[in-house]
Amino acid sequence: MNKKHIWGALLLIGSLTLAMTTLSWSDEDERWEHERGEGNRFWHETSNVPMLTNKAYQTECSACHFAYPASFLPERSWLKIMTSLEDHFGENAELDNDTQAVITRYLQNNAADQSPSRFSRSILRSIRTVDTPLRISETGFFKRKHHEIPNRMVVGNAKVRSFSNCLSCHSMAEKGSFDEDAVRIPGFGRWED
Ligand code: HEC
Ligand code: HEC
Repeated sequence: MNKKHIWGALLLIGSLTLAMTTLSWSDEDERWEHERGEGNRFWHETSNVPMLTNKAYQTECSACHFAYPASFLPERSWLKIMTSLEDHFGENAELDNDTQAVITRYLQNNAADQSPSRFSRSILRSIRTVDTPLRISETGFFKRKHHEIPNRMVVGNAKVRSFSNCLSCHSMAEKGSFDEDAVRIPGFGRWED
């Protein structure tokens, strides 16, 4: 090969590599969109959230309340919660370093930012980017969904007491379902709106 041919060959190889990289990039984008729910009808249409799959999280974080779905808060919120466990809503919920690391990783990998569930996208959209809420029950999405429920059914209800007690009303929450039809408010029964 003379010099001219070598340069030509190099150029060809170069542009081929570039074309292939661009192709696999757009492929990756599409898969991402798909997993995030754009093309994922199941997560788009149900009132279910991905099931809890971490033993440490289930054991440690359901000692005082329901183990909230990781997909209901953004990663930044979980990080803030997991780094302030010594003062957790007035309680000490501290863990040993290993357990804390395992649970933090689980929550990060399954946070709203990573979840295909339609709730997650609505929750993320309802939080200002400058805010890092420590409560699901303080997000705009949560408030919008629960604002019609009168106080006497929650704070004034000895069997509920707080919106943080998801399980007292969402009878199927442990199975990952927040379907309105499965809501039973203790002392008041089914919710009809
Ligand atoms: C020692 C008891 C205790 C343990 C253990 C505990 N929590 Fe809590 N948690 C609380 C209390 C108390 C509240 C406030 C409940 C209320 O306002 O009714 C709370 C509230 C929360 C909330 C906000 C709920 C809402 O209103 O949206 C989140 C999120 C949360 N805890 C996450 C965790 C995680 C993650 C763990 C495990 C690392 C954990 N908790 C372990 C006591 C505990
Ligand atoms: C006092 C009872 C009560 C408590 C406690 C409660 N909820 Fe609800 N929730 C309801 C009712 C009733 C609805 C349906 C409201 C409507 O659309 O009219 C609802 C709706 C929802 C929805 C929307 C369902 C859909 O298909 O649109 C989600 C998600 C949800 N709740 C999550 C939670 C979480 C998470 C907690 C705890 C942090 C919680 N709720 C605590 C009563 C409750």
